[in-house]
Amino acid sequence: MPFSCRIELNPLRLNSRYVRNLCIVGLQWGDEGKGKIVDYYADGFEAVVRYNGGSNAGHTIVINGRTFVFHLLPSGLLKKKKLLIGPGVALDPLTLREELDMVAKEGGEADLMVDERCTLVTTLEKEMDSFIEGLRGANAIGTTKRGIGPSYAMRALRLTPRAGDLVNGSFDMSSAIAFYGSFLKTIPDLTEWKDRSREVLAGKMGDVGGKVMELNEAGHSVMFEGAQGTLLDLIFGTYPYVTGAHTIASYVPAGLGIPNSALGDVMGVAKAYTTRVGGGPFPTEMTDETGEKIRKVGKEYGATTGRPRRVGWLDLVGLKYAVRLNGVSELALTKLDILTKVKEMKVCVGYSIDGSETGDFSRALPRLADARPVYQDMRSFFGLELRENQLPQVAEQLLEFLEDELKVKVTLVSTGEERSATMQRHA
Ligand code: IMO
Ligand code: MG
Repeated sequence: MPFSCRIELNPLRLNSRYVRNLCIVGLQWGDEGKGKIVDYYADGFEAVVRYNGGSNAGHTIVINGRTFVFHLLPSGLLKKKKLLIGPGVALDPLTLREELDMVAKEGGEADLMVDERCTLVTTLEKEMDSFIEGLRGANAIGTTKRGIGPSYAMRALRLTPRAGDLVNGSFDMSSAIAFYGSFLKTIPDLTEWKDRSREVLAGKMGDVGGKVMELNEAGHSVMFEGAQGTLLDLIFGTYPYVTGAHTIASYVPAGLGIPNSALGDVMGVAKAYTTRVGGGPFPTEMTDETGEKIRKVGKEYGATTGRPRRVGWLDLVGLKYAVRLNGVSELALTKLDILTKVKEMKVCVGYSIDGSETGDFSRALPRLADARPVYQDMRSFFGLELRENQLPQVAEQLLEFLEDELKVKVTLVSTGEERSATMQRHA
């Protein structure tokens, strides 16, 4: 049956259009509020799928004052959706265990399938993460030390077992152990890790890409939950200050093993300002009182590591690049409320490098550390009340300015951390 006919079977209304699958992707350096947006939209979908990254992610959802943080479980959990962890994910079974235990403690249950091809993160990859960061010294990336880069590297070296290999007991790790022995002083014993990991994964193994297609064939929509942000992409981000995996929407088909046509629409998520955790260039970074204020009011501390996040103004140069790379069809803008606490309001519309201006992030990338932001002053949000259904005119003006610049509609606006503080536009 042709694709267009299937859309008719189970129409899903989003921004006046009918879509089937939807990808939620971060457009900055992570922590854009993807978890909240996934949770908000999850009702219309049968399953929520993680397709990239691993437990370096920290997706936060706040409901009635209670905060839930997920590192591996897809954020559709709280809407009781089918949860799928795809083969492109670097899977730490012990982190998964902790999250499943937390769900059980709350009296909940996760309807979870983990792809048997997932790259595993063992204790060894975490050790290697710390070891390599130590070697970098002052140039450390500031990784989350969750073993993400090393596990993808070990995958490329074909030295690490996949989830299914571990469960079936069919992978010989002696070469990996010998490799680690060449640079680690002590090799942790993996026996307990293996037993516990097998126990977590047993009964959950499956073919996630196949499952997505099966759900689509039956007329169900599926949501793909991105981790990290576009500017942390291993290839297109601010290399080497990036994560170990692909973060852009085109990794959905490759990371899951589904055709490109199944990707569906792409909703980009951006904060109304910018944050970054760890090292690397950050042209709009604020090191003044305003930045400090935003960090405090916006609770800009890492959900995975607790580190203070670096804070800067909204950067349209980076956003335009991210919109293009991901083929973003709609935008969700988060944390607009935080800007009501600061007197200034700026948006970066270009970079100046050695006296010449550019609005092209790709061209600026090799010199990003020397890029000085060119700002457009915007009307301040200071003291505005954003809680009513209708956004104040000043806020609407900013959104229209962004729509003009980015050529995408701002469909969703988040005006507070609570699930309920979410406003749909252009509905
Ligand atoms: P979510 O999904 C913000 C950053 C780290 C570091 C770099 C490399 O919550 O948006 P890694 O451990 O991945 O090798 O670290 O990437 N980083 C994130 N920053 N949000 C994330 O995920 C991140 N995942 C990794 O801080 O700079
Ligand atoms: Mg996060």
